[in-house]
Amino acid sequence: MEMNGKTVFITGSTDGVGRYVAAQLAGQGAKVLIHGRDAARGKSLVEEIERAGGSGPEFYRADLSSLAEVRKLADAVLADHKRIDAFVCNAGIGSQNEGPQRQVSRDGHELRFAVNYLAGFLLAHLLLPVLKASAPARIVNVASLGQHPIDFDDVMITRNYSGSRAYAQSKLSQIMFTVDLAEQLKGSGVTVNSLHPATYMNTTMVRASSVTPMSTVEQGGAAILHLICGDDVAGKSGLFFNGMSEMRANPQAYDADARKRLRDLSLKLTGLPAA
Ligand SMILES: NC(=O)c1ccc[n+]([C@@H]2O[C@H](COP(=O)([O-])OP(=O)(O)OC[C@H]3O[C@@H](n4cnc5c(N)ncnc54)[C@H](OP(=O)(O)O)[C@@H]3O)[C@@H](O)[C@H]2O)c1
Repeated sequence: MEMNGKTVFITGSTDGVGRYVAAQLAGQGAKVLIHGRDAARGKSLVEEIERAGGSGPEFYRADLSSLAEVRKLADAVLADHKRIDAFVCNAGIGSQNEGPQRQVSRDGHELRFAVNYLAGFLLAHLLLPVLKASAPARIVNVASLGQHPIDFDDVMITRNYSGSRAYAQSKLSQIMFTVDLAEQLKGSGVTVNSLHPATYMNTTMVRASSVTPMSTVEQGGAAILHLICGDDVAGKSGLFFNGMSEMRANPQAYDADARKRLRDLSLKLTGLPAA
């Protein structure tokens, strides 16, 4: 897909691989909507893109650990833009960010589930009308190879909590949502895919977990850019990629009952109308 003149909204683009992807897209002539919590990091990327001659990047500040802030973010983006060609749901916290102990979001939901999955679920739904109006359009969910099945008796992981389990559950939730949403969007011209960008890129999240980085943001960024603009994935939807290659995710992603349970719960938690 030719990116010149396209509008791409990337959550979590003030740092790490999202920041790299935003700068690359801006370099290809796309208008990038940058998002993060930190205004100074956002401003520095806007300035970096403008210095390089990129066209009108915009920064939106929102903490995705609050569903009210997610709604305000969607309102602000929708008020400013009548066209979004790609939405990249990339913001996330790792297994150890902000401490290894169980934490909850401002709405009282387990924090990794809330930030990594539920916020993107709500944002995607709120942006769907404009994405459909901009079709062909793409949604990319940046997930992971780290995937833990959801225990529907304890989705908020009040028992046997570990940061890595919480992270992996949130990442499988994103993949289940991808499969589910792709079915709903059949025939709309909007496709949705998810991926593991690369293993242990050298980013804040990986450094916070004291793991030795094994790959670069350039490697993971190339895989994300592939799903945003690759011609070979045009029209493909509901798939999971490991880097550049399609692969099967955890079996729960292909369990229609489990996906329905997750969808129903997510609609309820976000206050969206039942399907
Ligand atoms: N790193 C890896 O090896 C790896 C592997 C597989 C998958 N992934 C996935 O790739 C994505 C990007 O990860 P990364 O490694 O680039 O991480 P990172 O460098 O830590 O960047 C995370 C981004 O998410 C934003 N963010 C975090 N919590 C937020 C919140 N509560 N509200 C709003 N924004 C928030 C951060 O914004 P601030 O600037 O405000 O902090 C930042 O822009 C994540 O979804 C991650 O799960 C990464």
